[in-house]
Amino acid sequence: MHFPCSPFGVTMTMLLGLVLASSLMAASAINFNQDFEIAWGNGNGKMLNNGEMIQLSLDKSSGSGFQSKNEYIYGRFDMQIKLVPGNSAGTVTTFYLKSQGDINHDELDFEFLGNLSGEPYTLHTNVFCQGIGLREQEFKLWFDPTKDFHTYSILWNPLNIIFVVDNIPIREFKNRLSEGIPYPHNKPMRLYSTLWDAEGWATRGGLVKTDWTKAPFNAFYRNPCVASSRGVPPCGSKSPWQSQQLGPRGRRYLRWAQKTSMIYNYCDDRKRYPIGHRPRECRRLKLH
Ligand SMILES: *[C@@H]1O[C@H](CO)[C@@H](O)[C@H](O)[C@H]1NC(C)=O
Repeated sequence: MHFPCSPFGVTMTMLLGLVLASSLMAASAINFNQDFEIAWGNGNGKMLNNGEMIQLSLDKSSGSGFQSKNEYIYGRFDMQIKLVPGNSAGTVTTFYLKSQGDINHDELDFEFLGNLSGEPYTLHTNVFCQGIGLREQEFKLWFDPTKDFHTYSILWNPLNIIFVVDNIPIREFKNRLSEGIPYPHNKPMRLYSTLWDAEGWATRGGLVKTDWTKAPFNAFYRNPCVASSRGVPPCGSKSPWQSQQLGPRGRRYLRWAQKTSMIYNYCDDRKRYPIGHRPRECRRLKLH
């Protein structure tokens, strides 16, 4: 996997590469109009500029959401998102994949938990398999996600699931089905994005209330890209998504992101999993 964006200092060539990559990406971006639809929200979700951008809003009457018209079995999914600025405590902005139904469903989540002005968002990720999640990893981002658009990607192929932020892998979930570890592999998933009020959950059990005097809360989405078996061009990276995995460089970035930004990892939750009882996917891969 290629991760052209260096967190350690960006050279000019790298910058040029990035600019090129992003203009290519824009060129191959899927228009929201064609492939997505506003799913709910009583008018609080809107396509702008003829489908170039989607604005999701949340007010006291309703949140809002949009979804892809198609379902996909495997793919790479990129979205640029600009989150609710200011006091966003209680709001949750999402970008996720989910199979149909609520029983035994598979789901891959990016959820952004808002916070008080000046306090950092929490980026919550999860992997559901056969209806069971409980695989949370949370991060503080290394930039202010409300100032500009940033690219969030989910890569899902038969080898692994990789969550990526601005081309930096932050989480990897390997396919270890052969060891009996669950892995989403046979249910097509739809792409969803929502903005909703979750003050009971997102603010440490309702500690902080949503400040409705600041409503409507707005988040913006643009440049969606879906590379899937339906044959749409690759997103973000030139290597084929079907076989993407972390190489030594990707693995270095993953370690950097986890070391500097991860604030919760279910694998290390000693209250939930005493020593010797960690979920199997948390145990090291056997080296051959
Ligand atoms: C809000 O910020 C505080 C202080 O940095 C932090 O402890 C808390 O986890 C944050 N809440 C969310 C929902 O991110």
